[in-house]
Amino acid sequence: MANKKPGFFSHQTLEKNIGWMIIASILVVSFAGLVQIVPLFFQHSTTLPVAGVEPYSPLRLMGRDVYIREGCVGCHSQQVRVLAAEVQRYGSYSTAAESVFDHPFLWGSKRTGPDLARVGERYSDDWHRIHLRDPRKVVPESNMPAYPWLEKTVITGQNVAERMRALRALGVPYTDADIEAAPKAIEGKTEEDALVAYLQALGVGVRKAQAKLAEDAKKAEDAKKAAQPTAQSAAQPAAQAATGG
Ligand code: HEC
Repeated sequence: MANKKPGFFSHQTLEKNIGWMIIASILVVSFAGLVQIVPLFFQHSTTLPVAGVEPYSPLRLMGRDVYIREGCVGCHSQQVRVLAAEVQRYGSYSTAAESVFDHPFLWGSKRTGPDLARVGERYSDDWHRIHLRDPRKVVPESNMPAYPWLEKTVITGQNVAERMRALRALGVPYTDADIEAAPKAIEGKTEEDALVAYLQALGVGVRKAQAKLAEDAKKAEDAKKAAQPTAQSAAQPAAQAATGG
């Protein structure tokens, strides 16, 4: 038994030949990776937009591109994690379905500044403009860089239609009419206008849709309660009379 020569398909082949070990490891890791990743391409929860998420308007799209160009993602994430502390600070946690129109997504992984996934409508437009021109004017201890040139750069004439066509090729449902109207929609706007428009809508659609769902659910619940008085509520007046209450 001890000196029986092991066959090729034995564990010893892998353990004694680093080449086979590397090949087998790559196979196992790739397979495990595919098992996790492939189903996501077919799940509605990751491929269809959640209620409240809509394709970017031309102005917001240009603002998003400014955000990418200026490297805001290097200091700001856009993903609220499923942790109580984050949900309390920023709002409901982020889901994959919120990013279906983001090519590329801007989840980020570094938070020198706060997460921005839910920053829309938290401040006024004026606050954002002052903050972008000189962050220290509104947050004295801020170490965020200033972006004073955005205010002076007009975006009219930039290739917004081509950008939208490229996104349509990736599955964003822009119509021909949307694309045709786009250059006019950004006419005379500055990069700052576009960036502020982008920031002011982050997370807003989802928050409103969630609030509406909660309200509808509450209404349905109330209607149900009103329609069928329970045995308990019918018995209440008698009980109150008995206790003098
Ligand atoms: C060097 C890192 C850094 C970069 C780059 C950066 N920021 Fe910031 N940002 C911060 C820090 C730190 C704060 C918190 C202090 C403050 O409000 O200024 C902040 C705050 C903010 C806030 C307020 C968030 C809140 O909830 O109070 C917004 C909005 C913002 N940044 C947008 C941007 C945009 C847009 C860009 C790109 C044009 C950008 N930041 C680039 C570091 C950065």
